Amino acid sequence: AQVGGRRVFSLVAQAGRTAFVPGGEAETWGFNGSFLGPTLRVRRGEDVRVVVRNGLSEPTTVHWHGMVLPASADGTPHQTVEPGGEWSPSWRVDQPAATLWYHPHPHGATERHVHRGLAGMLIVDDDEEAALDLPREYGVDDVPVIVQDRTFGGGGAFVEGPRSGAGMLGSTILVNGTASPGFAVTAELTRLRLLNASTARSYRFGFPDGREFDVVAGDGGLLPAPVKRARLTLTPGERAEVVVRLSAGEQVVLRSYPQELGVAGADTGAADEFDVLHLGAAASLRPSAPLPARLVDVPVLDPAGAVAVRGFRMRVDRINDERMDLARVDHVVTVGTTELWDVVNVSDVPHNFHVHGTQFQVVSVGGRAPAAESAGWKDTVYAPPNVPVRLAVRFTGHADPSTPYMYHCHLLWHEDSGVMGQFVVV
Ligand code: C2O
Ligand code: CU
Repeated sequence: AQVGGRRVFSLVAQAGRTAFVPGGEAETWGFNGSFLGPTLRVRRGEDVRVVVRNGLSEPTTVHWHGMVLPASADGTPHQTVEPGGEWSPSWRVDQPAATLWYHPHPHGATERHVHRGLAGMLIVDDDEEAALDLPREYGVDDVPVIVQDRTFGGGGAFVEGPRSGAGMLGSTILVNGTASPGFAVTAELTRLRLLNASTARSYRFGFPDGREFDVVAGDGGLLPAPVKRARLTLTPGERAEVVVRLSAGEQVVLRSYPQELGVAGADTGAADEFDVLHLGAAASLRPSAPLPARLVDVPVLDPAGAVAVRGFRMRVDRINDERMDLARVDHVVTVGTTELWDVVNVSDVPHNFHVHGTQFQVVSVGGRAPAAESAGWKDTVYAPPNVPVRLAVRFTGHADPSTPYMYHCHLLWHEDSGVMGQFVVV
């Protein structure tokens, strides 16, 4: 709805039942339905409001992952919505076209709330993206692919636990809430908006025939140019937009392949392989324009312009020897500045690092320039054990000395266990 020049969305967190596998139903949570939530679509420059209602029997929150917005609208535990309560943050969208997402962030219970099904995609559009020849017909050649893993018990219920060093690893893959998913391809080029919305599992996407696809966007927007890859890793919370070419009548399976995660031998799901999404092309396909050779200019944050360097040593349940404490502000940063954040995983399990309220750039991984697919705006980055990752983090526009943003591991059991801290922008 449009109210007074402001676009208004409504999300109701509610409990329900969902049939995923034959033989029963799971007790699930969803927004405006029983599992997951609607794709919200906003435009750069637009004023938006979301009316969030909590129809659950416990407190929750809704966080806009990847969105650059005021801390009071961010949906952290500082903006908890009580059962039966309502919260209506509003903000002006001011960031490039991107595939973002939303999910709960209740203190100590994020894993459980996301696992029950609370998550959805949040797409930002802008004029620059609209001017490019890219597949963009939603649900036709521009497709949300929300990838999650679950373990099913008797009667089709979700099994919560057990946990590996990474967290809960499921044995069944769901895409957009569907087990054994397939998509009917009708165009030569299909843009998949991949979102790893799993609580703990990382995926290494690719096709069995080793065909290359074009990575056109990372977490925070389009890359400078398409990057050809045969394999692409996404850790929990990360997104990528990839464009896949199929021939008429072709059947292919997007799979996840074994990968390196944590230290060798640690129980992290690294060896697992899955079919993720079957793609079946129609007997005749709509022609697609060739992908542009150049996409957008991504301004590079100059490390020499950074006003501070901060270190974040990630352990199994803490960062820099401190576990998350809602009453403690760990860092105070200055609005409008850029800082270098040095992240290092000093444990033997995989971690990643997510920062709220901003999009950052990866300066280096182990002292080397990041891979081309990680060279654009990002908000979540893999932190391999003992490999220093340097980020240039920019604090644009929204100062609020009394409301913290968060940074944390997006393996949600780690986050809930304390691998999280808070900063304020002043
Ligand atoms: Cu996607 Cu602090 O979270
Ligand atoms: Cu972690």
